[in-house]
Amino acid sequence: MSVNDRIIDFSDKILITGSNGFIGPRLVKTLLDYGYYNLKCSVRSTSDLTALRSVISCHSSKNVQMCTGDLLSQQDCDRLVEGVRVIYHLAAAMRDTSFESSYINNVETTRNILNAVIKYKSLRRFVNMSSLRVYSNINLERGALLDESCDIEADLDGRSDAYCTAKVMQEELVTEVCNSNNLSCVTLRPGIVYGPGNKGLHRMVGRMKEIGPWSVFIHLGGQNVLPLSYVDNCTEAIALAGVKKGVDGEIFNVVDDDLPTSQCFLRLYKQNVRDFLSINIPYRMFYIFSYLCENISKLSNNKLPLPFNRKKCSAAWKGNIYSNEKLKNLLCWEPKVCFVDALKNYFDYQKAG
Ligand SMILES: NC(=O)c1ccc[n+]([C@@H]2O[C@H](COP(=O)([O-])OP(=O)(O)OC[C@H]3O[C@@H](n4cnc5c(N)ncnc54)[C@H](OP(=O)(O)O)[C@@H]3O)[C@@H](O)[C@H]2O)c1
Repeated sequence: MSVNDRIIDFSDKILITGSNGFIGPRLVKTLLDYGYYNLKCSVRSTSDLTALRSVISCHSSKNVQMCTGDLLSQQDCDRLVEGVRVIYHLAAAMRDTSFESSYINNVETTRNILNAVIKYKSLRRFVNMSSLRVYSNINLERGALLDESCDIEADLDGRSDAYCTAKVMQEELVTEVCNSNNLSCVTLRPGIVYGPGNKGLHRMVGRMKEIGPWSVFIHLGGQNVLPLSYVDNCTEAIALAGVKKGVDGEIFNVVDDDLPTSQCFLRLYKQNVRDFLSINIPYRMFYIFSYLCENISKLSNNKLPLPFNRKKCSAAWKGNIYSNEKLKNLLCWEPKVCFVDALKNYFDYQKAG
């Protein structure tokens, strides 16, 4: 990228929150490879720093600081944000399914970071990591294109998905604060980010269930296209979103080229990692099951937990197609790792684990 295409200099300070997570260390590596050397990596005192340390140690000449802090503390956020020109806000509660924890670690943390941004006024751009999960496909036909123009989930209670709720609220907060303070923000909505470092098959493919003495994989994805984004391709998009001129206020879905169907992915996984028994559950059957779940929950006056509902079922398994056209056109992004190589790296990691 030429100097005229960049909004900051290589020496400008960049903050990466959630820098030790699955995506964070790869983003740090990508930014260092691009030439940005003044990085602040936010970590918690309890964080596992193995992957981040290994990236930083390979670039020992660069000015990379690991800064300990909890984004739930306003004081810590103020300290982290001071003097920073770009923030890549990756920190999130990804694995916790409780509404409370999701809200606190996605929305409250974001509010604290934005409060600090307003205080210091040095920021050139805020990159907000969201997710493809914020969309509602309830009004889309099966097989229709789900792109950046599609509706965001409006019925959060009906969807009853802690992560989706938190990410929608996080996006709303960022838009409101950035608009009212004239701040530049770019939002990224990746699909399933995969690669060495994450274990097992994603829930959009299906779930392993113990039935008596047997482990059976309930395959829910059928012929649906999986919105995969290989981790190194995803970090390339994230890095560009923070420094490229002319994309202020834009939203990008992040998926790779050559997306496989769930069935194809499962078959390749079985061939290359390990074989197991799987049962294919058609979408319409699971949709009816979700409807029954809703009614049973209603009959119990919502005392019985609601494991599935039609909105959740539709969002995960109705089957839409995805596009990375906007990413290519505006960010000049191209996937660096092709599907075949990405799969090989992912499968090698699964086999080794
Ligand atoms: N992975 C995917 O498939 C995917 C798909 C779409 C979007 N995304 C988004 O991409 C971003 C990065 O995802 P990821 O897979 O790298 O997530 P991850 O591996 O779960 O990492 C999350 C990071 O956030 C940090 N964090 C959480 N709460 C915090 C707090 N209160 N204060 C400071 N740090 C906190 C965690 O620190 P600890 O290590 O100390 O817990 C960790 O470093 C997230 O915003 C996620 O929503 C991911």
